[in-house]
Amino acid sequence: MAKQSSNGDFNTSTKAPPPPSPLRSAKFFQANMRILVTGGAGFIGSHLVDRLMQNEKNEVIVADNYFTGSKDNLRKWIGHPRFELIRHDVTEPLLVEVDQIYHLACPASPIFYKYNPVKTTKTNVIGTLNMLGLAKRVGARILLTSTSEVYGDPLVHPQDESYWGNVNPIGVRSCYDEGKRVAETLMFDYHRQHGIEIRIARIFNTYGPRMNIDDGRVVSNFLAQAIRSEPLTVQAPGTQTRSFCYVSDMVEGLIRLMEGDNTGPINIGNPGEFTMLELAETVKELINPNVEIVMVENTPDDPRQRKPDITKAKEVLGWEPKIKLRDGLPLMEDDFRARLQVPR
Ligand SMILES: NC(=O)c1ccc[n+]([C@@H]2O[C@H](COP(=O)([O-])OP(=O)(O)OC[C@H]3O[C@@H](n4cnc5c(N)ncnc54)[C@H](O)[C@@H]3O)[C@@H](O)[C@H]2O)c1
Repeated sequence: MAKQSSNGDFNTSTKAPPPPSPLRSAKFFQANMRILVTGGAGFIGSHLVDRLMQNEKNEVIVADNYFTGSKDNLRKWIGHPRFELIRHDVTEPLLVEVDQIYHLACPASPIFYKYNPVKTTKTNVIGTLNMLGLAKRVGARILLTSTSEVYGDPLVHPQDESYWGNVNPIGVRSCYDEGKRVAETLMFDYHRQHGIEIRIARIFNTYGPRMNIDDGRVVSNFLAQAIRSEPLTVQAPGTQTRSFCYVSDMVEGLIRLMEGDNTGPINIGNPGEFTMLELAETVKELINPNVEIVMVENTPDDPRQRKPDITKAKEVLGWEPKIKLRDGLPLMEDDFRARLQVPR
């Protein structure tokens, strides 16, 4: 059974988890681990699938509605005997026999999650309910990719997992922030009430190849602008900070959390903190020294500071990020140039 998390309030379940499939205890046949990745056609999900598929004992099923993801991200696995791709919206129930569920399905960038905010809330709430229902039915362990946005515009800095957040419940970002907060609540209620084995990752800004271009996220924005030789648009005042985790580090953290015995929530991110102006200057230096940096108006509710406290991830998962921003940014360049059709 899952162990207690950092916060004394969380209360570990007193119920035994639902039994896994009889295949797990079969005497004569060692079944492969069957893993469902919702949102697996997206940025982080497709990198996670790449890692999971490297293990020959894994069978991977992706369920995705392709709202922000693409089959292209999974091209190399389509047709592989240990891989299956299902067009499915998680707001509808899904019945598949699996042992683990990585539940990532949810648009992550403000442009997409604000496009249909009611749907974003449904994806977070009904989608997570459906995946928890599946976990309960088949005795699977489930990991939710929550977000640093549950801390809102934080009043403490850096944020550790015991911080309850400072979130606007009625703002334009609330469909995402509050949606993820309810998703976390549902995870813990299923854990306490039904004994489901849960894992919650609070992901901080992640970057790498296959990020959506022009999705309004700051790293992809600056990179695409630099490659297109357009000015880098920094939202005022430019002193707001973010921390950026390279996607391979993120995937390693998620797998360690799933395989470990701590429910979380656990912050997974890179504590290296940069102002938006510093980020723009770094992109300019590494990708295109000829571009200008210009200041533009900010969006409402944009958090001023964001930096993970990863003490718990270090202690519990033995995890910390390895790739520095200066090393990670150039690793995205080839992928972005190919998609933007701008050769070096
Ligand atoms: N990238 C980050 O910096 C970041 C930060 C914090 C949290 N996260 C979380 O990590 C997860 C993955 O983020 P990402 O950056 O890969 O985003 P992404 O938009 O690239 O991927 C999300 C995937 O979910 C799919 N999806 C969306 N709604 C769906 C629905 N209703 N049913 C089925 N599929 C649906 C999309 O088509 C896409 O493939 C998300 O849960 C996000 O909230 C990401």
